[in-house]
Amino acid sequence: MPTITLDIEAAAARLRAGELVAIPTETVYGLAADARDPRAIAKVYALKRRPASNPLIVHVAAVDWVDDWAVAIPDAARHLMRTCWPGPLTLVLTARADVPATVTAGQDTIAVRQPDHPVCLELLQRFGRAVVAPSANRYMSVSPTTAAHVASQFAADDLLILEGGPCRVGVESTIVSILPDEPPRLLRPGMIGREALQAVLGCELASNAPANIRVPGQHERHYAPATPAWCFSQIDESRRCNPRLGWLLCGAQLDTTGPALDLGDVPDVYARRLYAALYRLDHTGLEGIYVQAPPEDEDWHAIRDRLRRATRPMTPT
Ligand code: TXA
Ligand code: MG
Repeated sequence: MPTITLDIEAAAARLRAGELVAIPTETVYGLAADARDPRAIAKVYALKRRPASNPLIVHVAAVDWVDDWAVAIPDAARHLMRTCWPGPLTLVLTARADVPATVTAGQDTIAVRQPDHPVCLELLQRFGRAVVAPSANRYMSVSPTTAAHVASQFAADDLLILEGGPCRVGVESTIVSILPDEPPRLLRPGMIGREALQAVLGCELASNAPANIRVPGQHERHYAPATPAWCFSQIDESRRCNPRLGWLLCGAQLDTTGPALDLGDVPDVYARRLYAALYRLDHTGLEGIYVQAPPEDEDWHAIRDRLRRATRPMTPT
């Protein structure tokens, strides 16, 4: 059974012993291991049941730790670190040759970020080294935003979970690649949006990774609850009256017989509450979950991306 603790020193001791610790970050909880210890990293892949082809993000306590992981860091990347870190932004840079292949999944790039969470930063400082940390969920399921969600994902495992409260941002970090001879690219949308990044960079962000940058883990079906879920814009009466259907709303006033959670129409607030709401509806024994489609605006980009992966296309009645 997992143990939830407030003891940062106990968590650091586990990392030093080559064990895993679930850690809070401002985005989602992560499953952390010493980023220089291939045996500890192998445990991350095993516990998550994650394919070895899916690389990990290195989490650092300070900007100057990045030089241990990346080389030929462009000025644009340094500028983003100074402006957006600590924060929910991951940078994909050219990896140093000595980075363990288990971190990069054999690629010549490395993903790094400095998380903006006081408990996480304190842990990294005490441990004195960087950790890898994928989201602390089984492969392809919803990322956890509370310690209790992590515990429910790994109920049979002896995992130490460091309590840091509910995550403030609620969806995974934005990922941007900044590589030589390449325009900066948005590889995964997050709550630091395209416009904010372009304003910092002073140039356009390209999308769609070219063939030489792999972003595994960006599956169409990802972040998904076990209960089937559909996105809707308009819904008919017969579904609204079905008590076995749950509802995730985005500010709509909708009369439903089944349970409905309204996450509101403010993107930051919606994002913070999204995964907890999916966990709750997923554990209510429902036949299905209907998710109201959010607006098309840029502010909702990351949320629309996660919902697209969590839901199936709407079937006709
Ligand atoms: O907010 C977050 O980023 C959370 C918290 C725990 O920090 N972590 C997270 O990790 O979402 P994970 O492993 O669930 O997602 C990492 C994503 C994957 O899609 C992976 O393919 C991509 O980052 N990635 C990692 N290294 C990469 C690299 N060198 N090049 C391109 N994509 C990379
Ligand atoms: Mg993940």
